[in-house]
Amino acid sequence: MARNASDPLLLTPGPVSVSMSTKLVMLKDRASGGVEFQGDLQFARDYLVSLVGGQGAYTTIPLPGSATYANEAIIATLVPPGGKLLIHSNGVYGDRLIEICAHSGKAHSVIRTPPFVPATTAQFEAAILADPAITHVMVVHCETSTGVLNPLEELADLCKRHKLGLLIDAVASFGAIDISARRLGFQAITISSNKCMQSAPGIGWSVVQKTALENAKGNCPTLVLDLWDQNQHMDRIGGFRFTPPTQVLAAFAQACREHEAEGGAPARLARYQRNWRRLVDGMRQMGFATVVPDEFASPIVATFHNPAHPAFDFQKLFEGMEARGFIIFPGRLALADTFRIGCMGDVTEADMAEAMGAVAETMAEMGVVGVGHTDLAAG
Ligand SMILES: Cc1ncc(COP(=O)(O)O)c(C=O)c1O
Repeated sequence: MARNASDPLLLTPGPVSVSMSTKLVMLKDRASGGVEFQGDLQFARDYLVSLVGGQGAYTTIPLPGSATYANEAIIATLVPPGGKLLIHSNGVYGDRLIEICAHSGKAHSVIRTPPFVPATTAQFEAAILADPAITHVMVVHCETSTGVLNPLEELADLCKRHKLGLLIDAVASFGAIDISARRLGFQAITISSNKCMQSAPGIGWSVVQKTALENAKGNCPTLVLDLWDQNQHMDRIGGFRFTPPTQVLAAFAQACREHEAEGGAPARLARYQRNWRRLVDGMRQMGFATVVPDEFASPIVATFHNPAHPAFDFQKLFEGMEARGFIIFPGRLALADTFRIGCMGDVTEADMAEAMGAVAETMAEMGVVGVGHTDLAAG
């Protein structure tokens, strides 16, 4: 089936493709004080808490904006003026957390580890022991710039042992990869309305431990990012403090219903795993090589080396794919020429098989044919 190049399937790390039923609920105007809007808001807040098993102990707080707004908000709200945040970075999104702290003057220190593997617990422990001023630790669960999945369980145990608050950027993992409040005891996680929740971009969600939030009253130096204030207002009034993104919220509630109907995070993960397998097998058969070792790779996005073949040109691959109805993404790594193909969103294994056909056709058009794995993968 030929795809429509003017309404392409997004095979990117975000925004991702969204179901037609989720798009359609945005066609209606809604009042912010209306019963339907308030019902959707409450349902979405409760659903996100239930996905981490945090009923009773956690609250969900939406902010209009992208996921970075939520990351900045949990740091500004939960790390107190005298506190210090240890940030782990092995990619672009870890670096963005550092940038947030640098901009706001928040005290922080950094563990930077190589990009294609997770950090070890020993590396975290050494950094914690070296600096008694540290009060909080923040990590990116799925580092979307590479696709590396940074494990959380041992780090959470370490934070418990050292009585440190754990903050998690779960922007690219939440909704597919299991994150348990009970096991991890995190203070907060951040979530995108898009990505694995498969709704329109525009809301940055946080799931926050109620006790940590109560202790955070007065911490946040800005009005709009103050999650304590947003949460108390929401609990009292049943709505946002300022004009809410009504259409985006309605779409998000619909996306939550579809997430539940699909079978929740386990079913979504299984579909993304099938997408990833089809993608990686298909690309390897054509001679492409992945950057991240399979054992550390998440089924969210895969990063490929640009092949060394002289006729290969990423821009031509991008345009050839776009003309066939698929959007792929350039790499974001300073140290290697790479590109990325996402597995998230309203995408099936059959879509991925079609996309592999489009890659093969585009490579043939480019004159990159008949090369064995070593020629093509040498980049
Ligand atoms: C892991 C992770 N964190 C944070 C962000 C930033 O999200 P946004 O661009 O929505 O602000 C992204 C975006 O791709 C991401 O993948």
